[in-house]
Amino acid sequence: MIFYIILCWVIVIILTIVIWGAVTQWKFVKGKGNEGFQGKNLEKFLIEKEKHFGGLVQDVKCDCSVSHPNGRIRNCQGGDRMSGIYHNYAPIYAKYLQPYLNNDNIVLVEVGILKGSGCAIWSELFKNGRIIGLDYDLGNIKNNMKFLKSKGAFSNNNLELHNFDSYKPKIKKILNGDTIDIFIDDGPHTDKAILTTLEEIVPHLSKKFVYFIEDNTQVHVKIRARYPKFKAINDGQMTVIIPRE
Ligand SMILES: C[S@@+](CC[C@H](N)C(=O)[O-])C[C@H]1O[C@@H](n2cnc3c(N)ncnc32)[C@H](O)[C@@H]1O
Repeated sequence: MIFYIILCWVIVIILTIVIWGAVTQWKFVKGKGNEGFQGKNLEKFLIEKEKHFGGLVQDVKCDCSVSHPNGRIRNCQGGDRMSGIYHNYAPIYAKYLQPYLNNDNIVLVEVGILKGSGCAIWSELFKNGRIIGLDYDLGNIKNNMKFLKSKGAFSNNNLELHNFDSYKPKIKKILNGDTIDIFIDDGPHTDKAILTTLEEIVPHLSKKFVYFIEDNTQVHVKIRARYPKFKAINDGQMTVIIPRE
């Protein structure tokens, strides 16, 4: 009898150890999430994913809302932000996105999404995030959606698309009460479009945020003058805005 009681206890103890081990191991694997992306790893991820989702695209026709000498339709280029061969923004993105990796339940907004390689990267990096893609001409990403999905993009259905004009921006309705943790402006790149958009977005930023502005070398001077409460860090064609501590 005593033998059976001891045997039962041994079985219970062994089962407890096995179940506890399995649960903690699962939590470890699950909790690991993006923690594996330290420094260079994240840079590498960004460069590889941009290539994976189509890489450089050129002469893409975009309706750009504002006339210029050749009319409203322009030839846009994209898929060129991460690689060192083109803009080489991967190290900057990696540096400022790092703090968001452990808690990827964020709201990320990108304006100027063209064929959507950026949205696909953000969606994969922030699997639990709300990814909002904005553009005046959503035709290019919509026509490319089949390709992006064939590459595994948006399997977690966390992308939403909205029409948006950087010269007449409206964000409140789109956010529906959320605030923005990460904002990326890769729209028309003029000072006017960037500053008008920034003015609309500022009241909707989270307390802690990062705001990237691509492909403009001088707008940071105006931003620093207008928003002394923010830090506007400039590195060549990229400006990154963050709150002052
Ligand atoms: C340089 S491309 C974006 C490239 C893209 N982010 C990528 O990495 O592949 C510029 C984008 O801005 C969009 N755009 C141009 N004028 C705009 C406007 N007034 N408002 C919003 N988006 C605009 C174009 O349709 C185009 O998709």
